[in-house]
Amino acid sequence: MKILVTGGLGFIGSHTVVELQEQGFEVVIVDDCSNSSEEVLKGIASITRKAPIFEKMDLRDKLKVQDFFKRHAEIEGVIHFAASKAVGESVTNPLLYYENNIATLVYLLQELSKKPRSSFIFSSSCTVYGQADKMPITEDAPVKPAESPYGNTKQIGEEIISDTCKVTPGLNAIALRYFNPMGAHPSAEIGELPIGIPQNLVPFITQTAMGIREQLSVFGDDYPTADGTCIRDYIHVVDLAKAHVVALKRLLDAKNSNNYEFYNVGTGKGSSVLEVIKSFERVSGLKLNYKIVDRRPGDIVSAYADTTKANKVLGWKAQFTLDQAMKSAWDWERKIRG
Ligand code: UD1
Repeated sequence: MKILVTGGLGFIGSHTVVELQEQGFEVVIVDDCSNSSEEVLKGIASITRKAPIFEKMDLRDKLKVQDFFKRHAEIEGVIHFAASKAVGESVTNPLLYYENNIATLVYLLQELSKKPRSSFIFSSSCTVYGQADKMPITEDAPVKPAESPYGNTKQIGEEIISDTCKVTPGLNAIALRYFNPMGAHPSAEIGELPIGIPQNLVPFITQTAMGIREQLSVFGDDYPTADGTCIRDYIHVVDLAKAHVVALKRLLDAKNSNNYEFYNVGTGKGSSVLEVIKSFERVSGLKLNYKIVDRRPGDIVSAYADTTKANKVLGWKAQFTLDQAMKSAWDWERKIRG
């Protein structure tokens, strides 16, 4: 069965392509390589012994999207990762984010709506909850006004899909609300490749340990948490990738249609920034050079998932521990710098 993975050369996309191929799906990747490299194809092929089909394409080109679906009429499912994801950049260039993340979503759904039956998986984010009132966060927690155009594209994206499913016989969709993805494939053949200075905690830690960054800044230790640093739910990217495959299978097996569902995808466990640093020090045997600095504007105190819905309905549960995820991130960092 043929599945389109947009953004399939990216961090989460490439790990999902591996899991799909290992489960026998035939994958077509579309990626514009704006934040990824064709080299990733080699890593995927080396793990799965199969090179996915790849087309370099910008999904903002509506005519090309239409042409793509004509040429690949047998595609039954789409996992849509392709999007811009830098929160700060979205504030300075909102229209880029609305075009990249919203226009492309509309074009894909327009093509899927022409099919008698199709399945769609959307990359959403725990950012839709903002600072939730209760921990762990369940899916019925209110969606808070978005703090950035990036966050807004995830909220609007979910609404567009929900509205479209209601009136499109044959279309089923699931949005996965990711918590904080980290780590790399245990083979160290694929992993995260941040361009420039990493914005996220884990690649900043591993780059600091490699000497690429001088020091990690811990953004604030005066939050109302046990050690004063912010709490997040760090999920191994392989666990996250597997969640996409089970979600896709649920849609492909569904007897009825017009369904839209959303699930939290996290571990259910919150870890503070200092706990993440300790995990790194445990698995690497190194001391990390870090200092406490002021809070980063816009950071929320705490976010971790209640994953009961995904556990029960999808039969999915994260398997990897923080230390295992951290070790894979460290193995990958050393490999790419080696
Ligand atoms: C961010 C995005 C979120 C995205 C997620 C994963 C925002 C508001 N949210 O979440 O949409 O899904 O990344 O890509 O940006 N930290 C440090 N020092 C650093 C970097 C981070 O102390 O150099 C701390 C942060 O204050 C935070 C934690 O580490 O408490 C995690 O930060 P980060 O990896 O940037 O993820 P989020 O901000 O949770």
